[in-house]
Amino acid sequence: MGNETQPREGDLPDSVWMDVLSAVDRTYADLVDYQERLERQNDELERLRSFHASVLASVSDILIVVSRAGEVEEASASVSLRTRLARSQLCARRAEDLFAEADRERLRTAMRCATELRAPVTIEAGLLTPEGPSAVELSLSARFDERGRAAGLVLTGRSVAEIRQAYAELERSHDELKAAQALLVRNEKLASLGRLLAGVAHELNNPISFVYANAHALERYAGKFESYFHEVQAGATREDLMRLREDLKLDREVRNLREAVRGAREGAERVRDIVEDLRRLSSDGSGEAERFDLVAVTQVATAWVLRGARREVEVEMTGLPSLEVTGRPGHLQQVVMNLVQNALDAVEEVVAPKVVIDHATECDLAVLSVRDNGAGVPEGLEQAIFDPFFTTKPVGRGTGLGLPISHKIAEEHGGRLMLCEGGLGACFRLELPLDRVQA
Ligand SMILES: Nc1ncnc2c1ncn2[C@@H]1O[C@H](COP(=O)(O)OP(=O)(O)OP(=O)(O)O)[C@@H](O)[C@H]1O
Ligand SMILES: [Mg+2]
Repeated sequence: MGNETQPREGDLPDSVWMDVLSAVDRTYADLVDYQERLERQNDELERLRSFHASVLASVSDILIVVSRAGEVEEASASVSLRTRLARSQLCARRAEDLFAEADRERLRTAMRCATELRAPVTIEAGLLTPEGPSAVELSLSARFDERGRAAGLVLTGRSVAEIRQAYAELERSHDELKAAQALLVRNEKLASLGRLLAGVAHELNNPISFVYANAHALERYAGKFESYFHEVQAGATREDLMRLREDLKLDREVRNLREAVRGAREGAERVRDIVEDLRRLSSDGSGEAERFDLVAVTQVATAWVLRGARREVEVEMTGLPSLEVTGRPGHLQQVVMNLVQNALDAVEEVVAPKVVIDHATECDLAVLSVRDNGAGVPEGLEQAIFDPFFTTKPVGRGTGLGLPISHKIAEEHGGRLMLCEGGLGACFRLELPLDRVQA
């Protein structure tokens, strides 16, 4: 008899064992897999937990998460800091108990409203601190679970004192900005006046010397007539008087006398006109808007700029001979002066410099355009030229405020100032609403 083992009755065949072993293997592999997934989920949970904790620790506003039952579920470190209650103490309380008793009823109502309306509700309430209630602006938003059922609320808040301080700071910087803006406008006006001062002085000098010379001539004539009358009174003979009249050239001087008076008067009128122009130019324009002829204002502005020009430039006025608009002529004169000055600066190096100023109406717009045959505005700078202090001119020749201020003035008049596309040189276009014009 050999040693070979025969399967005994009740023993399982090998194939069954093989199945069992492979089932155990699979289960083990599943277990390992499950374990790994669990660990990954744990890691993720841990990461979320510390993220959550870091948010709660660093948020400076008050953040309180409230359960459906009205109890604190979670609170930011800022709440603990203010109430001097540890997180564990906070979480055991009803949210309303963190606030002054007088505010609790209002808080309950607000919580109810936020949940029912499904919209945030804002109230002011006193958060209890060891120093007494501290007013906070609270915003209450309802939370909902994945099936859309109310799950509680989130209360966020900021100290009213902080909000007030922030508002006060905002207001202060707004005021400072307004003051700086006013100063800029004023400085630009002074700068443009300064640029024209040489021209103004020259312009006044001419008629004044005219008046002076004529007054001097009148003095001379007066002397001659005095000596003639003296002789008349002294009883001189007719012949003597005739001779004296001849010697003193009285007949010619009578004609000259009229000329001298007319000349002196013209000179004085010219001075008066210049002073009037200056007065209009320097008025701050804060008064009432008035109806005026834009073409006349353009003419005065152009004349002033040309007086200060360094070289002869051909300036052509085209279009309407008059164009009534409503606004502040002083301000619009400043705009035109800047556009014309810019055009003159742009043609400084041009062989046959030319500036064309056109007045027209287009639909409901009064349109003034100033075109020059200079090099134009370089590509890419079309927007930048309207920025304050953007200038390509040397120091002392340009502050870069002309266009931004002109742009602002145009807007204040309900209009626009823009650079037109295409064409030779640059073309700036000022549009003012015409409906106001006819108002
Ligand atoms: N007609 C023009 N042709 C070419 N470039 C122009 C023209 N007008 C304005 N610019 C450009 O726009 C810039 C800004 O113009 P803006 O009038 O604002 O300031 P500015 O003339 O330089 O100085 P400011 O007007 O304060 O004396 C100018 O420096 C120039 O580079
Ligand atoms: Mg300018």
